[in-house]
Amino acid sequence: MSKNTAETWHQDFYDDLFAQHCLQRSDKEVNEAVDFLMDKLSLKAGMRFFDQGCGLGTLSLALARKGLHVTGVDLIDSYITRAQAEAAAENLACDFHTGNAYDFTPSKPCDAAINWWTSFGYSENDDKNILMMQRIFETLKPGGFFGFDYKNGARVLKDFAQSNTLRDVAEKDGHKTVWESRYEPDTNMVYKDWIYTAPDGTHQENKGGGAKLYTAEDITHLLTGAGFVNIKFYGDMQGGAFDPDTSIRCITISEKPAGA
Ligand SMILES: C[S@@+](CC[C@H](N)C(=O)[O-])C[C@H]1O[C@@H](n2cnc3c(N)ncnc32)[C@H](O)[C@@H]1O
Repeated sequence: MSKNTAETWHQDFYDDLFAQHCLQRSDKEVNEAVDFLMDKLSLKAGMRFFDQGCGLGTLSLALARKGLHVTGVDLIDSYITRAQAEAAAENLACDFHTGNAYDFTPSKPCDAAINWWTSFGYSENDDKNILMMQRIFETLKPGGFFGFDYKNGARVLKDFAQSNTLRDVAEKDGHKTVWESRYEPDTNMVYKDWIYTAPDGTHQENKGGGAKLYTAEDITHLLTGAGFVNIKFYGDMQGGAFDPDTSIRCITISEKPAGA
């Protein structure tokens, strides 16, 4: 079992096993996300793009295949090594860095940026969480777009209405993953532990840290606090309307003001 501290849990939690079983997307899911981003962020070949908390670089690589110059940053060195190898094998215009999103900015201004698939909200302290949005704001050219994909906190709270602890089980080809989520009202954080059992019965348990629950109003407050304007909400990657009661995701597209 891995140790878990508020500041270091990511290094233990986001390991190769997690990448293999929880960070893979189908081609359909990747294509949907890429089509959504190309459209809503008005992306074109030749533009500079920043992927904050890029993980394995799945979206960065797919966008680089569309002709974008992508800079990605992630805390986990092994994820960045994999992304770099994939980019090199296909000769893609990618620049991946192991680094901390609270302080990393790309060397050149970007036309658009994302923080995608809950790569945010790891601190109980909003003054710390907003630092990631501030780094994106600094990165963007005036008029540049920011795509932010986070859980819809209002909907997650409904899931915890009956109990502060929830369990999800997924099984595929003898590989079993069990998620245990715990909601702590005092901090408004959801803590997730992940237990993986291999077909031979061996298992590994990773204690995750927490991610803060944010409603659409909270996200508006954070984005405007970081300087973003013209915030538009979407409930899914088909561009469906956001509904606070039912949408699983809370996706926003916002803009750095033209004069900023
Ligand atoms: C759920 S994954 C999503 C990955 C990616 N955005 C995607 O869509 O595939 C969250 C990622 O955020 C990264 N992360 C968390 N805290 C970070 C930090 N302070 N700096 C950089 N990356 C961070 C994790 O290492 C992990 O790869």
